[in-house]
Amino acid sequence: MADGARFEGDIQLEPPTVKSPETVPAAEDHAYLAFIVSALIIAIAGGFLLAILLPLAETGLFGWSERVPQLIQAHGWAQLQGWAGLFVAGMSTRLIPRFAGRPGVRRNVILPILAALAPSVVIRTVVEPFVGGRLGDVLTVVAGILGGLGMLGVWALLSVTLAKGRKRREPWRYFAWAGASWWAVWAAFTVGAALKSIGNDRYVPASLDDALTWIVIFGCVGNFVFGVQSRSVPVFFGRKTPTVKRVLIPGLMLNAGPLLVALSLLPLSGALSFRLEGGGLAIAGLAAAWLAPIAGSVHGTAHRLRPRSRAASRYVLGANIATIAGGLCLAWAGLHTLASGGYEAYAFRDAARHAFGIGMITMLAFGMAQLIAPVFALSRAEARPPGLAERLPFWLLVAAVILRMLTGLLADHAALDVRMRTAAVAGALAWLALVLFATTVMRAIRNEPRMKELLAGMVHGGGEQ
Ligand code: HEM
Repeated sequence: MADGARFEGDIQLEPPTVKSPETVPAAEDHAYLAFIVSALIIAIAGGFLLAILLPLAETGLFGWSERVPQLIQAHGWAQLQGWAGLFVAGMSTRLIPRFAGRPGVRRNVILPILAALAPSVVIRTVVEPFVGGRLGDVLTVVAGILGGLGMLGVWALLSVTLAKGRKRREPWRYFAWAGASWWAVWAAFTVGAALKSIGNDRYVPASLDDALTWIVIFGCVGNFVFGVQSRSVPVFFGRKTPTVKRVLIPGLMLNAGPLLVALSLLPLSGALSFRLEGGGLAIAGLAAAWLAPIAGSVHGTAHRLRPRSRAASRYVLGANIATIAGGLCLAWAGLHTLASGGYEAYAFRDAARHAFGIGMITMLAFGMAQLIAPVFALSRAEARPPGLAERLPFWLLVAAVILRMLTGLLADHAALDVRMRTAAVAGALAWLALVLFATTVMRAIRNEPRMKELLAGMVHGGGEQ
């Protein structure tokens, strides 16, 4: 820690160097890496690759035009279950036991969850646009069941950890409880979506698919985004971590929003259903915009971090600023939908989806991994300044999020061809950012043994933390 000072609520970064009695050494430190590496592979070879190909297919540039609806869902699925979901599952099953003062989760408990989640999303992404007929239907159901089992695994593991862990009144616990519960809901929806797509060219009915997107973004991912940030990010920027009282109302809204969206799927009159959905989107959007500055950070310098780590804190700022932009766009779309009782504001919904997807999820994943994942401990301790591979992805993602939000916002004002070609450029920039980030992860994995020696040396020499 800079200047040796320690503040209450500090996140203790590298367990080998921290002698606090509250720090529980993890029995298993590496399983989360299997999740991160799988998430990166699926993002690079699936979700972000489709982010380039899918908009070009929408322009009719090559022969996939008739598959576009399925390609859109495959892209959404790969990004949410594959990229965001695996990343959150890996990091949360690594971090939450630490936060709760529990021993690390054993490899033989955690890897079966990955073995269910990863193939599920791979099968779903490939089969939905490309495998027709009975085989396609059967594989879709297999993918749904596998995914559902993996999601239940995440729910069970986190719930047991939280139930047995320390019971301090800290915001992260409530976010984590809520987030874990949404993973059980996600499991049910994943199986349900697969069943509903049978006999429909594997296409999930649009209202169910759309609702699921928001349930995942806010319930299954958002709760961890704000829970994990609330415990560490304000400290990086020299501020106090928020109290339960401070996050109570936006935290409740963050969960009430997706709940209303889920309820909108009940067999109700069309207008009532849209009003429920609109209200849910507005509440959740406002909650995200509210939480970004208080649980995360949107300004300032991360002066509590070593100079070497400060570049990574930019990702956190960028992610939270994008979260505010996305939250406001979604609140706007939600209020219009609520008022009219019909589907409204496609442009703002699409912009919001990608402010959250590229900004809140991808930027934050890059930043938090570099700031708190144990595998980056050596990079954080190195004397050399961050290299191009660490700095460039930030600017690539900034450009990608701006371009992709614009292609959404201009839906009613610019020609489809222009918008989709711009989206493909955004996709290529984001894809490159992913590849560069993956190289820094692989480098960190390769250097881990050296890191352990170095950290052990620091402990014996009474070095900094
Ligand atoms: C620069 C990167 C990206 C590009 C270029 C891109 C492009 C697209 C395009 C063209 C669509 C279809 C829009 C339409 O015609 O209605 C779409 C939908 C979608 N995208 Fe992205 N996307 C990107 C990144 C992401 C990320 C990172 C996520 C989430 C983590 C994400 C989640 C979604 C979702 C959930 C949908 C809707 C899927 C559905 O309707 O089932 N996207 N994206």
